[in-house]
Amino acid sequence: MWLYINDKYVELEKASISPFDRGFLFSDGIYEVIRYYPDHGFFQTDAHLNRMLYGLEQLRIRQIDVALVKRIIGELLSKNGHSTAQAIAYVQVTRGSYYPRQHFFPPASTAPTLLISTSPFKPDIEEIEQGVRVLLEKDIRWSRCDLKTIALLPNILSRQNAVEEHACETIWARDGFITEGTHTNFCAVRNGTLRTPPRSSHILSGITRQVVLNICSDLKIPTEETSIGESELREMDECMIIGTTTEITPVVKINDLVIGKGAPGEITRRIQREFYAAIAPAL
Ligand code: PDD
Repeated sequence: MWLYINDKYVELEKASISPFDRGFLFSDGIYEVIRYYPDHGFFQTDAHLNRMLYGLEQLRIRQIDVALVKRIIGELLSKNGHSTAQAIAYVQVTRGSYYPRQHFFPPASTAPTLLISTSPFKPDIEEIEQGVRVLLEKDIRWSRCDLKTIALLPNILSRQNAVEEHACETIWARDGFITEGTHTNFCAVRNGTLRTPPRSSHILSGITRQVVLNICSDLKIPTEETSIGESELREMDECMIIGTTTEITPVVKINDLVIGKGAPGEITRRIQREFYAAIAPAL
């Protein structure tokens, strides 16, 4: 398999990154995951790369050449033979490598490390069709969750809890209000209105979240970007987790609380139909 590291293609077996890379030492970097559908191409590439530019700017890491990244993800996909089925491109930028280890920024001449890979991706059709159970836990993350940093320990621990409980995902609540999932945003439907937590530094401004809001606007489904209290969950008719890998996945149970009728709801289905009509007609 081929990767792209800094300015060249390299085979995985021959790839190397310095042990003093700040991504390795400090999780000092930003990443993006971009979905590829053979009938559509890369999905929402500009939105993903713009979010990456925002993250890099906020962390004061040197910007990337977006046109170059777009070219490389396409070339890498073909080079790896990943372009005939669904796939994912992973793009990561760290602040680069510098010795000796120091917390403050290295000299401005330090080049960021750019890593790009592609991998095949198979969606879990059963989960998307039948709905899933998620866990609800306390959100213990920092206060800049709007940045898609590679520091993902809380996400890893909460996702592992879900796996061990045979649940699909863990969603979090901060001060009694739902924020998002470990790798998904959260939406709920009550009395025909779709609600999702507002954009803030407590959630990632998801690309799929914006796609869902646009779909709702097209379908004339009312939306509210408002906080959802933990205690309100029992009043919800439908819930969903949404994201690049999860797409639109109905949530039918949160811990032991059954949502609505315990099956994917009508509005979820309408949003799914619209979403798949656009990107994966074969599904
Ligand atoms: N995760 N919230 C968090 C914390 C996420 O990590 C993600 C995406 C989302 C959904 O955002 P988007 O619709 O832009 O994918 C929300 C990616 C897929 C990952 O970490 O693999």
